[in-house]
Amino acid sequence: MDRLFIFDTTLRDGEQVPGCQLNTVEKIQVARALETLGVDVIEAGFPISSPGDFNSVVEISKAVTWPVICALTRGVQKDIDVAAEALQYAKHKRIHTGIGTSDYHIRYKFNSTQEEILERAVAAVKYAKRYVEDVEFYCEDAGRTDNEYLARVVEAVIKAGATVVNIPDTTGYCLPQEYGEKIKFLREHVQGIDKAVLSTHCHNDLGMATANTMAGIINGARQVEVTVNGIGERAGNTSLEEIAMILKCHRHLNVDTQINTQKIYSTSRLVSNLMNMPVQPNKAIVGRNAFAHSSGIHQDGVLKNRQSYEIMDPKDVGIDQNAILLTARSGRAALKHRLGVLGVNVDNGKLDKIYEQFLKLADKKKDINDDDILMLAGMERTEQHRVKLDYLQVTSGVGVRSVASIGLLIAGEKFEAAASGNGPVDAAINALKKIINRQMTLHEFTIQAINRGSNDVGKVHMQVEHNGSIYYGFGANTDIVGASVEAYIDAINKFVK
Ligand code: KIV
Ligand code: ZN
Repeated sequence: MDRLFIFDTTLRDGEQVPGCQLNTVEKIQVARALETLGVDVIEAGFPISSPGDFNSVVEISKAVTWPVICALTRGVQKDIDVAAEALQYAKHKRIHTGIGTSDYHIRYKFNSTQEEILERAVAAVKYAKRYVEDVEFYCEDAGRTDNEYLARVVEAVIKAGATVVNIPDTTGYCLPQEYGEKIKFLREHVQGIDKAVLSTHCHNDLGMATANTMAGIINGARQVEVTVNGIGERAGNTSLEEIAMILKCHRHLNVDTQINTQKIYSTSRLVSNLMNMPVQPNKAIVGRNAFAHSSGIHQDGVLKNRQSYEIMDPKDVGIDQNAILLTARSGRAALKHRLGVLGVNVDNGKLDKIYEQFLKLADKKKDINDDDILMLAGMERTEQHRVKLDYLQVTSGVGVRSVASIGLLIAGEKFEAAASGNGPVDAAINALKKIINRQMTLHEFTIQAINRGSNDVGKVHMQVEHNGSIYYGFGANTDIVGASVEAYIDAINKFVK
């Protein structure tokens, strides 16, 4: 079996998604889960982009032992200096530098020429080599770069010392055959190609990221850049779980990873919950319906022999359909154990706080599932909020106008207001706006399906515009109007400081 290196960029390309930003503690949590999952490389951030990113790279470097920690830079010295500093504590470190190589980038972004870009690429690699042995070079927009020129760049950066060369399909434009041929072309035309690993980095704008990555692997790429749940800029990146399971199901390809596939589901839930990014129900491998057979013919076939309709065992990705649900009678130890299984390790102080909320929720609904537990574990995020919901009362019905009264605590001071609206959420938000008297427009309002009974926790995602910027909010509550107001308040807290 040929070894394929898994380069996870959930914390860099994934985290670039508006509304998905994590704080350093949450990033460490994800990094540790990725280490347990068995990824080879963690791209921990883009240190020059912000002090927060710099700090996250530092802290992840300290927290994680086995995977290589990678920091992104543009092909400029200052970026590389800062990345090297951020990586100082990493046990295994890599600088990921690069530059755009397509005509779009060379002419319009850099107002430059192919020769000058080639020189800058070589200079960036040589400069990064002064700090670390392991240097990866990305040819941004390689998907739309002419193959002959791309081969010249790849050859030059390998000669300059690049250990890995990344061939991103930055815009998600390539067809699988075209992308596969690009990798093949490089393997056949670049002198010294065996001195470096070729890496795929495919975006999903046309829904072909996984297919393109597979075409890359089949044609000789031995590193893939992926994210958990396929999150990432625009339509996202190639999803880690899809590649890992394709290779597990198609052993004849003779390519293997070190992913512990049984950790896939818990890692997916952790990332989804921390980033407030729901996973679409029909998402391959980790979607709620990925293993649900609803048609009679399928159910009958699966009952007779699972393999009639299932190519994977759900247990292989860590889905235990007989998982024990927690209830009001479950103790702290059971809660701590379940949190651990989900990748959340807490000290006793934090466990006490989560347990207190757990009992309150268990009073409202009988069975507490993994999503509920992760939601409770994330609740402390709102503890620092300046604006908090004190109470909410709403009267609504069919044929009558809804009326809401609301109490907010702003920096500890109580404010109250009442308003009407064309529905309970409208009334509650109108009341809230009377207190927070700023220009605010609700742009997106998603209520995640409540699928486990009418007493389930409803989750709400919102986008609120204020002064031309979009702020994201999340709320979770067994009362769906309450969840909506919590989401609005979460967004408000991002601009009311
Ligand atoms: O999509 C892309 O080209 C990237 C590079 C910065 C690696 O994310
Ligand atoms: Zn990318």
